[in-house]
Order: sequence, then structure tokens, then C-alpha cells
Amino acid sequence: MGKFIHEWKKSHGAGELRAQHEGQTVVLMGWVDATRDHGKAVFVDLRDRSGLCQVVFDAADIGDEGFELAGGLRQEYVVAVRGTVRKRAGKPNPNLSSGEIEVLAANLELLNRSAPMPFPVADEVDAGETTRLRYRFLDLRRGPLQHAMITRSRAAQVARSHFDAEGFLEFETPILTRSTPEGARDYLVPSRVSAGTFYALPQSPQLFKQLLQVAGYERYYQIARCFRDEDLRADRQPEFTQIDIEMSFVSPDDVMDVCGRMVSKMFTELRGAGVPDPIPRISYAEAMSRYGVDNPDVRFEMELEDITEKAATCDFKVFSAVASAGGRVIGLCVEGGAKMSRKDIDALTDFVKTYGAKGLAWVKRSGDDLSGPVSKFVDDSLRSALLGDMKMKDGDLGLFIADGDASVALTAAGRLRAHLGQTLGLVSPGSFGFVWITDFPMFERDDETGRLVAMHHPFTAPKEEDLHLLETDPLAVRTSAYDIVVNGQEIGGGSIRIHDQAVQSRVFRALGIEEEEARAKFGFLLDALSFGAPPHGGLAFGFDRLISILVGSDSIRDVIAFPKTTRAACLMTQAPSQVDGAQLEELGLQLKK
Ligand code: AMO
Ligand code: AMP
Repeated sequence: MGKFIHEWKKSHGAGELRAQHEGQTVVLMGWVDATRDHGKAVFVDLRDRSGLCQVVFDAADIGDEGFELAGGLRQEYVVAVRGTVRKRAGKPNPNLSSGEIEVLAANLELLNRSAPMPFPVADEVDAGETTRLRYRFLDLRRGPLQHAMITRSRAAQVARSHFDAEGFLEFETPILTRSTPEGARDYLVPSRVSAGTFYALPQSPQLFKQLLQVAGYERYYQIARCFRDEDLRADRQPEFTQIDIEMSFVSPDDVMDVCGRMVSKMFTELRGAGVPDPIPRISYAEAMSRYGVDNPDVRFEMELEDITEKAATCDFKVFSAVASAGGRVIGLCVEGGAKMSRKDIDALTDFVKTYGAKGLAWVKRSGDDLSGPVSKFVDDSLRSALLGDMKMKDGDLGLFIADGDASVALTAAGRLRAHLGQTLGLVSPGSFGFVWITDFPMFERDDETGRLVAMHHPFTAPKEEDLHLLETDPLAVRTSAYDIVVNGQEIGGGSIRIHDQAVQSRVFRALGIEEEEARAKFGFLLDALSFGAPPHGGLAFGFDRLISILVGSDSIRDVIAFPKTTRAACLMTQAPSQVDGAQLEELGLQLKK
């Protein structure tokens, strides 16, 4: 490498040049995005992180040797160019930030060549995800991923400066640690020095951030990596990042307020989108009855209506039987839905069946007439439910799910609502709907084992007024836990914690964790709670989910530099991989045949 790099520093980003730079001598370094050979002149689109700029190589200016070098440039070659900025000789390109100018090259140096690309560096490519993940370092050159990475970096800065300004201290907590239960399986790391023992990678920094409250730091934050061995989906990765906070001497409102202010800064600064202040709050019970889910998309209405009482007396056996058996009949009014065909409704029926519903009843309104299989059973009472409670107007469609199990009826109706919101285009693209869901139940029953499990985690404080139900009616115990939901996605969750050792022991017991096991697993926490633990609480945002919403992508894989597949594999490094026998030996491990 001659003058470039050593003597001539890169002076501008290719995408930063504007008409105001006209006449300046600049040094650009970057990748060849495209070349156009016009015989007397070669045009090269030079790309770097900042964007593109057209560079013109003319034999008269660059000399024969330079001109020949320019003629040999291929896509993704790395070059350095020195030249003068001038108004474009040809037509300006309005699609390019630097579209009014070009650089007339006086010097060119080839810094590196590139093998032919497996897929082009274009915003849209038809390469499969496997190829893209294998060559992730090339995929990351593409505009949409670059935008995601830049947004991610800026969002982290917004979070850091926000929490710093609010008096939080940044901490790092251990990665090699003991199990912190957040409901997933642990990733384990064998110890060499104590063969037969294992570290667990943290599912979250939960216990450490609580211990930092006991230690008196009052306000903690961390952009923390978490590890969970669970079934992966578009919104889940085996390792992901949280913006994790914890505070002492606070109420749920204090935590929600400080987090709400962060969200507001992020969406305002990075998306120019306003966030309501304060973000509306509804209880878990209210969310379930209005939306059927605890992560409602509040960008559209179409709320669920419980019409059980008014449907109890009608002659449609499905409804009356469910009502008399203590189940629920849940209705949903689809505005203008009467134009849906039988086939459309059959598809919706199949959809709700995947959530355990036994069927989907429907009624259409046209003028004052009701039609559809259930319409002949509509008596005065049911009619008042449809036209009154559900507000069915001319041209609307009423959909109904009845089930002996209230939660099946609500959940299926809630999923149907979310599905219709997407498929009927009820949400305008680029809009955001924020809501806090509060007062979650402490426990839920695990369908497989029949045991109680913590809905958030076992360190969440039961509500004072429900404490007496811990032993007698645990499923009725509510907590101070809160989730923040954007566009129907849970982007964060937290709670006020237990700071009383006796209450913590009672919760472990309710979860079927006996004294001895609790001591063995969480003795350090129980100890800490006995040494002047302050009342405290906090929250963790799913940073990847937050970014995917900010950039409008469907999958968190698009906002993680080096993500894993749904089989938790990295296709680029081929992790996980086998290890050699000597390593296993050293760790005292033997693989089963
Ligand atoms: P929770 O388990 O709810 O709470 O996690 C907080 C947020 O992290 C995100 N998240 C994930 N993102 C990507 N991939 C995953 N596998 C994944 N799992 C969770 C979600 C979720 O809202 N310690 C508590 C927080 C607290 O109580 O302060 C915790 O980890 O967006
Ligand atoms: P059936 O009486 O089974 O022929 O069903 C008549 C209509 O009621 C069909 O449209 C079914 O999809 C619907 N249906 C059946 N079971 C239920 C249910 N539990 N809730 C709502 N609709 C149902």
C-alpha cells in the first residue's frame, strides 16, 4: 500500500458528500458496489457504511495505468480513491444522498480483491436464509441489516444515557454462575478444576441485581446477555440481550415511569414516533376480558364481548349448554365483515381450533336482518347482546366462541382478534400501540406436570392484600408484576420483589420447593434477605425485540449481528461443535454412545 492509508487518511464517508463539498479534494475508501464502463470513462459506485457515491475515472485525469486499474474493478473489491468533488456531469440521482455530486478520481489504489459473491449486496435478495447466515459477514453489508445494527447501537446509547442521567450505575454480573430460574432450561458449562460440577449460564441477572440492592446501590442497570435453552421462534433466541434495571425504595409506578421515559426517548429519537405519557395501564384481568391475551395489540379496537348471560336462554344448544355449565360465550364484532365468504369463515374456524376452540359460530347483519347458521336461534336476549353489547351494525359480522373452559374461549377469541387485526389490515403500518399490563397472577398451573409455577419468577412479591391466600388459594394471589407491550409484543417485564425472607420461603413452599432444596439452591438469597434487604423492584426489556419493533422487522434474527437458527446453531462458525477426547478427559466427561 502506497500513499493511501499511510499518508492520505479517509476524509469523508461516501454517503456524506453533498453539493457543498464541490471543489474539495477528498479521499474515499470502501467497496465497489457497481461499475459501468463507458469506454472513455469508468463509473464506479463506491460504498461504505455511510452510503454510496459515484466516482468517475477518466484517462485524462487518472493516467493510463490508473485507468486500466479502474477498468479491472469488480463488485466488492476494496479501493481507495483520491479526487475532486464536482457537480454531476450527468443527471442528479434523487435516490442517493450524494446524488447531486460525483468524485472525479485523480488516484486509485486497489486495497483488496473479492471472490465472486454468493449473493449481491442489495436491499432485497432472494438467497435463502441458510446461505445468508453462513455468510453473515456479507449479509451484514446489506442496507436493511446495516440500518438495524446502527439503530441497535444508537438505542443502546439512548438507554445508557437515560439511566445514567436518572442516577443508575452500570454493573456487570457473572456469566459463569448458578441457575437463575426464568422458566427455561439452563445452558451448563462443566468445571475443569472441580470435575463433575457445572456452572449455569444466567437466564437473566435477576438474583445478582437483587443482591446489589441488598448491597445498597439503589439503582442498577446493565445491558446484559441472557441464555435460555428453550424452543426457539421468530421472537426468541438462545442468547439474547436485556436492558436490565433494578431500584430500591420504589413502587410499581416508579419503575414503570422511569422505563416509560426511556421507551419514549427511544421511539422519539430513533423513529420520530410519539409515545403517550404516561403509557396507559390495564390490569391482567382487564386485558384478558377485553383482549383475551396478556399482550394485546392496542392499535385497533374490536374488543371481545362476554355475552354468556344473554346467550344462556337461546335455543342454540352450544351456547346454552356452555352457559349453564359455567363456561363462557365470547363474541367479536368484525366491522364490515358480512362480506366475508363461507370459505373465509371456514378458514377462521380452522384457525381458532388450533387454540383449542371447538368451533366458530357466526351471524351476519344486513339492514335489520340477521343471517347465518346461528341466526335462527337469536331470541330477544341474544339480539340485545349482538346489537347492544357488541354494537353490530349493518354489514358487520359477529363471531362467537363458546367453551366450558373460560380461558380456552378467551384465548382463542383473543388470538382470533390478533389474527384479524393483521389479515384485515386494521393496523396502519408504522404505527405503535403501547400498554402496560399490571397485577399479574402469582402462579399458574403447568399443564404437563399439574404443578404450580411462577407466572413471572419466584422472587416476585405477592400483593400485600393477597398474602393470606398463599397457602389456601394460591391461584387467586395477585402480584405487582408488570409487562410492557408494544404492537402486541411483550418487550419487557418486571415486578416488585420479595424482600422478606419468610415470604420468600412461603413462595418457594407454594411452588413445591422444600426448605432443604431452597437452601441448597438459593441459600445465598435467603441469607441476603435477612441482612437488611430494602424493598426493591425492577424490570428487563428484551433489547432485541425492542429493536426489531423500532426497525419494523418480523424476526429478532434481523437485529442481532450473529444470530442462531431455530436449532440454536450458528451456521457461520458451525457452533455447537464436537470437542476432542482430550478436552472431555480433562473435564472428567464421557459421552454416551
Ligand atoms: P423476562 O423473562 O420476562 O424477565 O424477560 C424480559 C424480556 O426479555 C425478552 N426475552 C427474550 N428475548 C429474546 N429471546 C428470548 N429467548 C427471550 N426471553 C425473554 C422479552 C421479555 O419481556 N429477570 C426478569 C426481569 C425482571 O423481573 O426484572 C426477566 O428476565 O422481551
Ligand atoms: P354444529 O352444531 O357442531 O354443527 O355447529 C354449528 C355451528 O356452531 C358451526 O359453525 C360450528 O363451527 C359452531 N360451533 C360448534 N361448537 C362451537 C363452540 N364451542 N363455540 C362456537 N361455535 C361453535
